Amino acid sequence: MLYRAEPHSDKNAAYSLGFRTPQEAESRTPIPVNLARSTPILPAGEAAVAAAARSLREGGLVAFPTETVYGLGADATNPKAIARLYQAKGRPAFNPLIATVRDLEAAKRIARFDATAIKLAEAFWPGPLTLVLPKTSDCAVAELATAGLDTIAIRVPAHRVARDILRAFGGPVVAPSANLSGHVSPTTAAHVQSDLAGRIDLIVDGGPVAVGVESTIVGCFDEAVLLRPGGLPRGDIERVLGRKLVQPPGDANSDSGRPLAPGMLASHYAPRTLVRLNACNVEPGEALLAFGPVAVSGVDAATSVMNLSARGDLDEAAANLFGYLRALDTRGAHTIAVMPVPHHGLGEAINDRLRRAAVGRD
Ligand code: TXA
Ligand code: MG
Repeated sequence: MLYRAEPHSDKNAAYSLGFRTPQEAESRTPIPVNLARSTPILPAGEAAVAAAARSLREGGLVAFPTETVYGLGADATNPKAIARLYQAKGRPAFNPLIATVRDLEAAKRIARFDATAIKLAEAFWPGPLTLVLPKTSDCAVAELATAGLDTIAIRVPAHRVARDILRAFGGPVVAPSANLSGHVSPTTAAHVQSDLAGRIDLIVDGGPVAVGVESTIVGCFDEAVLLRPGGLPRGDIERVLGRKLVQPPGDANSDSGRPLAPGMLASHYAPRTLVRLNACNVEPGEALLAFGPVAVSGVDAATSVMNLSARGDLDEAAANLFGYLRALDTRGAHTIAVMPVPHHGLGEAINDRLRRAAVGRD
């Protein structure tokens, strides 16, 4: 079955991480939607995988599910396709992309792995971990994708559909999250459609994703640095390494205690609606993003309530986070009050995204 996604406007919640200069600014001026165009959506399956590989070979832009969030794929060796991808997302070209590959062997063709990187790749690939590594001298990935850096971010996704597409295509595929730059990452094909229909060539619908927050990014430099908390909990990585991950300088969680540079948080992943964190009550006119079984005072006055996980399960909460933020952002509340979420496991990534959602707004 093939049906058409009609483009429509969505100014929903927005998130994109900034942890170093290239990530700091997010453009809010994507190319206008071509209303004459729509984007086909194909249900995941053999035909969709073949169509995706064909489109990628022709320089097309294809959204597909990974286990973390939906990605927007382009041939990583094709500068024209990558230029189109930056345009379609409204992403500044100095913000580099993640290259997704089939396996460690393919990854070694584009990046240099030290002992730490090998250890992490063997422990966690395929899975929700991205490694930032030095590029090989003959790295086939276009310079534009790595924003001129001599490092490259690489991921081997575990999702069946992503793996099938990578196998059918054969080469590395750059795949940032399939949202407009500055918007919340998509966890369903419908989210992709609402941001990018009319701007991209194909959406492969593999249903809602399992993890729900983007991959954890670790830079393998002199030390292993946690560049972005994400779908693989920090504790799992530290157990394999046998030591702590280092925080990047200037990070909110860094030991230096320095505040985040304003550019690192500003306007990333910001819903139109105000976001109030660590809410222990609900004020009139607020929507509530709840967590856990215990109700907060004033809940009856909430304009709407969504519970990330009534049983207090952080994995379930991560899977629901972006969809619930998108939904609550359309309910006409003046503020989304968010109950406290514990910081362990996927809670670190959830709190990171929530903090960014609230920046400049409270
Ligand atoms: O789960 C994920 O990682 C998803 C799925 C689709 O794979 N992708 C994703 O990509 O979240 P994106 O582009 O939305 O976020 C990638 C982050 C950006 O903040 C980018 O600046 C950073 O990775 N990045 C990419 N290459 C880098 C590099 N060489 N050094 C430091 N940061 C890099
Ligand atoms: Mg993103």
